[in-house]
Amino acid sequence: MRSSRDIIQMAQSSKSYLLNILKTMSRAGGVKIPRFVDTQNDNSFGKYAVVQPWLVSEKVIVPSYIPQPSYSQSAEPKNGPATPEIKDECQIECMRQSCKLAGRVLRQVNALIKPGITTDFLDKQIHDMIIGNGAYPSPLNYRGFPKSICTSVNNIACHGIPDNRPLQEGDMLNVDITVYLNGYHGDCSAMFQVGEVDSEGKRLITVTELCLKSAIEICKPDERFCNIGNVIEETANKHNLNVIPGLLGHGIGTYFHGAPDVYHFANDFPEKMKAGMTFTIEPALSQGTTQIEILEDGWTACTVDNSRAAQVEHTILITDTGCEVLTL
Ligand code: MF3
Ligand code: CO
Ligand code: CO
Repeated sequence: MRSSRDIIQMAQSSKSYLLNILKTMSRAGGVKIPRFVDTQNDNSFGKYAVVQPWLVSEKVIVPSYIPQPSYSQSAEPKNGPATPEIKDECQIECMRQSCKLAGRVLRQVNALIKPGITTDFLDKQIHDMIIGNGAYPSPLNYRGFPKSICTSVNNIACHGIPDNRPLQEGDMLNVDITVYLNGYHGDCSAMFQVGEVDSEGKRLITVTELCLKSAIEICKPDERFCNIGNVIEETANKHNLNVIPGLLGHGIGTYFHGAPDVYHFANDFPEKMKAGMTFTIEPALSQGTTQIEILEDGWTACTVDNSRAAQVEHTILITDTGCEVLTL
């Protein structure tokens, strides 16, 4: 017969045995033990939590009456066009509908955000809104992405996966929403603040929004795509912030991502905008380094120096006279 002390000892040794296995596996790159606690940063970049991924809940199944993109089962999207597509009135009307829905859903996010809610909760609420409008949440299973939206908090620059970390006072986050409606995708994102964000964080958001606004203002037929990058980099640098060069805008339509690539950094590529083109502009700026690292989940892109990043996005249409912001 064992004494209760024996049993406690056994339980403790098997607990440390398990922990040791986990640690060894983690050192070998097998698993990452989630820390479920943030480190706090307080330096010239400001005062904020340095965030790492927490636990991701089960993938949901979309009801079969919702029209779904090809990758919803296979995870592999069909190739988009190799050169920028010029859309006709009919295709443009479809883009208007999907983009309008994406914008409308994005505007409802602010009312959901408060300290203590998780990004998994946000994902579930937004997922239901999108399905409720007869659309499919484009990120879900796109190249295997496990959730319906992207949520990128503080030092996560983009493609953050919604998880069980409770948002805390002072966090700032990007929520990126793409919907697939009537066969067309509409893509937009915005920055949100949880309670009071420090002044450096607020400034990062304001300048990132200014970059997108300034870029949209120059878009018109025969304008060179490179001037989007030139305007954005100039605006960012004037305010001592840095453009993350690895994150690009993209053509969009029946495909989530296709030609053209839209660079947000200064460049002199010759391609020009034409009436009927639809593409996204989605500059991401950081307070520190522009180098980003993709974590083991294959998605989460964080700044390598843990400085905060901000990103905002619209889908736009080039018209005969200028451009139309479709995701407003
Ligand atoms: N919405 C993102 C973009 O702006 C793409 C997200 S891809 C996903 O292009 F798979 F992460 F959803
Ligand atoms: Co996009
Ligand atoms: Co997006």
